[in-house]
Amino acid sequence: DRQLKENSPLKGKKVLITAGPTYEAIDPVRFIGNHSSGKMGYALAEELLKNGADVILVSGPTSLSINQSIKKIEITSAKEMLDACLKYYDDVDIFIMSAAVADYTPINVSSQKIKKQSDTFEIALTKTQDILKTLGEKKKNQILIGFALETQNEEQNAAEKLKKKNLDFIVLNSLNDEGAGFKHDTNKITILDKDLHKTTFNLKSKKEIAKDICNKIISLI
Ligand code: CTP
Ligand code: CA
Repeated sequence: DRQLKENSPLKGKKVLITAGPTYEAIDPVRFIGNHSSGKMGYALAEELLKNGADVILVSGPTSLSINQSIKKIEITSAKEMLDACLKYYDDVDIFIMSAAVADYTPINVSSQKIKKQSDTFEIALTKTQDILKTLGEKKKNQILIGFALETQNEEQNAAEKLKKKNLDFIVLNSLNDEGAGFKHDTNKITILDKDLHKTTFNLKSKKEIAKDICNKIISLI
């Protein structure tokens, strides 16, 4: 029992975590998506469970499965992800936004498959609602964690997101290193605190990174 307690620093804590991409429908057979595999978010969800947390996972389309003790809610679009997050947010202690949410979605979704006609084709898009920013504005006692992927001015841009979205910390993914990013099982991250304290980690597996992020969360509790 004592051992269980020592291994369960997140016992009694409720965590809501998002993972994977969103798909924005164009017509019944097509969508706008992205290359997110969901691996980082799923690894983090399982690590939080291991540490005793009650975990709710809101997941976009992925090929991954998750431990049965995690409540998994499957969604497709950014709007569905927002609605699922709003449903549980007020009740959780920790909210982690690791999903790769589409920034834009088609204004009109064709009810029929679009036929090819002219040589060029344009789709009008409108901005999706920023889920993390929305929840940052509603924040009470939750610990809020975001992710950022940047290809230039990495730390400055991540620091701006941290502030704009009212986060406790942000995990910056580095795409510049060999072996890092969505096509890999490894990643290289930097954690930026709300007091702009910075920790850089070595290239490692997403499962090992999940432990680093989880330890950071535990240190804040
Ligand atoms: N995010 C979100 N809702 C959106 C877009 C992004 O909650 N509609 C979240 C992401 O899940 C991530 C954080 O905001 O945790 C930062 O996402 P990122 O794409 O890096 O930044 P954006 O704010 O979307 O800005 P940009 O893409 O222009 O860099
Ligand atoms: Ca974005």
